[in-house]
Amino acid sequence: MDKPTDDNLSRLPGFYKLSIAERLDMLGARIHLTPEERYSLRGEPLPLAIANQMVENVIGVFGMPMGIAANFHINGRDVLVPMVVEEASVIAAASHVAKLVREHGALTTSSTDAVMIGQIQIVGIADPQAARQRILDARTRILAIANEQDPVLTEMGGGARDVEVRVLETPRGAMIVVHLLVDVRDAMGANAINTMCEALALYMEGLSGGKVLLRIVSNLADRRLARARLEIAPAAFDEHNWKGQVVAEGIVNAYAFAQADPYRAATHNKGVMNGIDAVVLATGNDWRAVEAGAHAYAARSGKYGPLTTWEIGPEGRLVGNIELPMSVGLIGGATKVHPTARLALKILGVKSARELGEVMAAVGLVQNLAAMRSLVTEGIQKGHMILHARNVAISAGAVGETATIVANQMVREGKIRFDRAKQILRHVLMAAEKKVRTIETRMSHDSPKPPTPQDR
Ligand code: MEV
Repeated sequence: MDKPTDDNLSRLPGFYKLSIAERLDMLGARIHLTPEERYSLRGEPLPLAIANQMVENVIGVFGMPMGIAANFHINGRDVLVPMVVEEASVIAAASHVAKLVREHGALTTSSTDAVMIGQIQIVGIADPQAARQRILDARTRILAIANEQDPVLTEMGGGARDVEVRVLETPRGAMIVVHLLVDVRDAMGANAINTMCEALALYMEGLSGGKVLLRIVSNLADRRLARARLEIAPAAFDEHNWKGQVVAEGIVNAYAFAQADPYRAATHNKGVMNGIDAVVLATGNDWRAVEAGAHAYAARSGKYGPLTTWEIGPEGRLVGNIELPMSVGLIGGATKVHPTARLALKILGVKSARELGEVMAAVGLVQNLAAMRSLVTEGIQKGHMILHARNVAISAGAVGETATIVANQMVREGKIRFDRAKQILRHVLMAAEKKVRTIETRMSHDSPKPPTPQDR
């Protein structure tokens, strides 16, 4: 086994070929795993008692595969990326393209402060513009009331930062929406924000003369953005039948398609979110919040578009960028109570929620590149077919190497069916049994016979 260093921490050569126990050993050589952590991966990932405290009416826990995407090198640091996803080939695709990027390019990230928006809706106001001004004039008091709700957050350097007031014309008449901007530091932030907005309701009614209705976080977290940038030499995509330059041009054309057409943009972004959601889920974060923010951000111009951009840069390199809201945290919610989510954060080695969001953005960008690279070359079905065939082979009873043999045979035949998997499996097992018998017979002939009385 290679000796892990800071420079090759995320290189996991041959990881996919190992048994799960061997993979844990390889991971353990990079990130010390306690017996409890190993158990949380191999034993009971989420104890029932914890599950029972998390939501209502619990009847059990639901398992999902968790894997590691290898080869990520972000801002000069190797990062092992835990991913929880039910779709085959997502982790392999991310790992493969991350390897191309580390060898032929660079992946960097940045982010804004973790500023989330809380919304307070006020209706029934006689003069909305005058009320708006009164609320703005009371900014200092509003921030003070908000910050009294969460002294821990203010101690950590976070807290309410600003107030914005919008007057919305709606079919139900004019209403005021107050935006409370809060730096939530390493929290996802919804709880802190909702508490602050609820605490401000009475004061807002006094200021505005209206009635407060909704007091809730906005998932269009456009003040809390994570960004990633990737550049790669087109030669990275050189392959027997494909010239890298042509692949890179194809990717830019694929991006132009997504830019021009929301039907394509939705699928383009689905590919981005394949990567992001898998890390959001692994770390116990709220993937619905991240999804909502991503798609709302993708439509911010009024037309739904792709979350990434792709172009050929001045030096002929393929350059990709992503920017999206990233309301994820390191503290609170399932991130702290779920043992495997805690372990995922340890594997990632991130020190802040901002860093976590940046890694997620980087994974989304790489995942998008991986999808487009397949789409502009051989298409995604070939890779999917092999994995699908493997799943069919396993459900027909094949295990380990045998599953690969059965799957490959079905792919060669272009017939991926349970009944065919059973037939091939029977043949493979019979052939293996025959081989074992032949070897045994040969060995019994070759091995020295026990001495008979005549020999003595
Ligand atoms: C499949 O899960 C994701 C893709 O459809 C993404 C894309 O089309 O860009 C392959």
